[in-house]
Amino acid sequence: MSHKSPKDFFAPLAVGAPAPPREVPARPSRAIHFFDPSNPKMAAKVPAMVGTVDVLLGNLEDAVKADNKVAAREGLVEIAKGTDFGKTQLWTRINSLDSPWVLDDLVTLVSEIGDKLDVVMVPKVQGPEDIHYVDRLLAQLEAKGGVQKPILIHAILETARGVANVEEIALASPRMQGISLGPADLAADRKMKTTRVGGGHPGYLVRQDPVDGDIHGNRTVFQQDLWHYTIAKMVDACAAAGIYPYYGPFGDITDVVAAEDQFRNAFLLGCVGTWSLHPKQIEIANRVFSPSVEDIKHARRVVAAMGDGTGAVMLDGKMEDDASLKQCLVLVDLAEELAAIDPKLKELYDAIEVD
Ligand code: GLV
Ligand code: MG
Repeated sequence: MSHKSPKDFFAPLAVGAPAPPREVPARPSRAIHFFDPSNPKMAAKVPAMVGTVDVLLGNLEDAVKADNKVAAREGLVEIAKGTDFGKTQLWTRINSLDSPWVLDDLVTLVSEIGDKLDVVMVPKVQGPEDIHYVDRLLAQLEAKGGVQKPILIHAILETARGVANVEEIALASPRMQGISLGPADLAADRKMKTTRVGGGHPGYLVRQDPVDGDIHGNRTVFQQDLWHYTIAKMVDACAAAGIYPYYGPFGDITDVVAAEDQFRNAFLLGCVGTWSLHPKQIEIANRVFSPSVEDIKHARRVVAAMGDGTGAVMLDGKMEDDASLKQCLVLVDLAEELAAIDPKLKELYDAIEVD
């Protein structure tokens, strides 16, 4: 097969569609808050949430009853038209590509609110061909509707085949914005035996060796993370493609402590955000996915001590060099991006004194 020229990779896929971006805009997305646009109580709360969360996502897929699919789609159009989102992003999760609803989801949303939608989340992505389908369709609809800004694509990693193809998915289009873990569908597709939506499982553990040969004695158990492998694989695929990785849903809304642990593991491994299924989780995500004051204080000390960025210095008995400086800059740069949209964080970071 003859490959497409690299020169054409950034050409619009339909005449008159906006050119796809060369880089994913670095817009904070610590919490992607899901709402059901067919639920009038939830929908009514959306305008007041603008400014309190980085991303508001109108969900059309799972968790919306089949009978409510059209109401959800129309509800989202109405909310989007009637709301000024300011710096808050508006995303949607469309129905899966094998459903009877997805074509109308895309046609309606891009035609009616294409200029307001930042990102389309595509569920149950199996391979790059799924992204190519959405990519071309978005271009055709953008061209037809005169949409000025290209709508980006976010894939959910929630099928075994999707995990096997994650690198190709991440690289499938310049529209790719990021990928989220979908632990519920992924567990089902893989025939994992957990029935929880995200999080650990008490049965997935490692046990301390017997003390004095007493197999039945008191032995500490260490619960392991069921999602570590998948998240790490997703982070590598995203980083290599220059797009953003995310944790996904954490279903136990009451267990705010375990949610925070899962989110922090994802943050430490390289993720930039997570989903929020309840306002409680927004606060957790905003805190966890923002570098701490201590981290920024340390990072700025290293930046100051490293001068032109080459060589090695000792700080508090620890070696710092060109590479550890880069690690620190990851945090400093992220703090700057977040401070630009979050005045409270800006105040916190501005108050840090580096000694
Ligand atoms: C999310 O969509 C999941 O299946 O976990
Ligand atoms: Mg799912």
